[in-house]
Amino acid sequence: MFEPIREDLEKVEREFVRHLESQVALIPTIGYYIQQGGGKRIRPAVLLMAARMSGYTGEHGALYASVIEFIHTATLVHDDIIDKSDLRRGRQAVHSRWGNDVTVLLGDFLYIKSMSMALTRDSLDFIRLLCEVTLRMIEGELYQLTKNGVVDLSEDEHFEIIRRKTAYLFAGSARIGGMLGPGTNVEQEDALWDYGLNMGMAFQLVDDLLDFTGEENALGKPVGGDLREGKMTLPVIHLLHRGDARADLLIRKIVNERTATMEEWRELRAQLAQHRCIDHAQRVASDFVERAKSALCVFPASAERDALMFLPDYVLSRDR
Ligand code: IPE
Ligand code: IPE
Ligand code: MG
Ligand code: MG
Repeated sequence: MFEPIREDLEKVEREFVRHLESQVALIPTIGYYIQQGGGKRIRPAVLLMAARMSGYTGEHGALYASVIEFIHTATLVHDDIIDKSDLRRGRQAVHSRWGNDVTVLLGDFLYIKSMSMALTRDSLDFIRLLCEVTLRMIEGELYQLTKNGVVDLSEDEHFEIIRRKTAYLFAGSARIGGMLGPGTNVEQEDALWDYGLNMGMAFQLVDDLLDFTGEENALGKPVGGDLREGKMTLPVIHLLHRGDARADLLIRKIVNERTATMEEWRELRAQLAQHRCIDHAQRVASDFVERAKSALCVFPASAERDALMFLPDYVLSRDR
């Protein structure tokens, strides 16, 4: 299904490395380390496939896809410092290997570099959009910090956090793909935005439930950390509403002490299962997936549209 964009995705890898060139050797060294670590490249895939569906046949797709991957990478290296998470893509996180000082500056480099890459094409509309989604993402990370350890976080507040920190970048990726197309109208651009936004919501909801159900080896990052970091996610918010006093006490204890014994963790997982909290989060994610797919109906049927329809389902079933 992704055959049409295979070459472009390979070009993204080359662009990524090319733009890391610097006389300060540390930048290409770390950049290459990150690029070699892999990653799903799902945002580039969304952008490139949306561009194809919109009739774009030019060669600048890979540049914008690399810009998005640069922004995403910058957020990951900073996020791992904030979350004190030492494993990313199955390897030592950048800050664990090179320290926080270097990692903060490398993230800054990637952010500014992404914008300067976008500027090489002189299209202010794209840069305006990239700035907008990146700012919302940083606001999301900051908003999340202000709600850290707040056990009574509402579902709406939680959705606002994940919309900002994750979904807008997906929305921007899809919309930029559409903007590259020669005849995309505003309705279609908006539809791509909705598609990305809803898929991004599902993506983060699944990421959050994988923190309870996933395997570290498959995910390439630690599991079970969110609650101990004081991060309330949908399964636990649901348990707080559905569970009894015992579950309530357990959640508050883990969040307040920022740690859980093996016994407490087992108990938490049993409570989540008993009250079908993982199923609930999966169902909510699946609703977002349906909304994402139905947004695409303003486009005529095509192989590219089928591929874009498939992506949200992949997001729902992923284990990595
Ligand atoms: C991780 O994103 C950060 C979240 C928004 C959950 P990805 O799961 O897309 O990370 P990589 O690029 O594939 O490693
Ligand atoms: C990351 O959220 C979202 C970003 C915008 C960086 P998480 O903190 O849940 O992502 P992981 O689990 O570290 O990949
Ligand atoms: Mg994190
Ligand atoms: Mg996570």
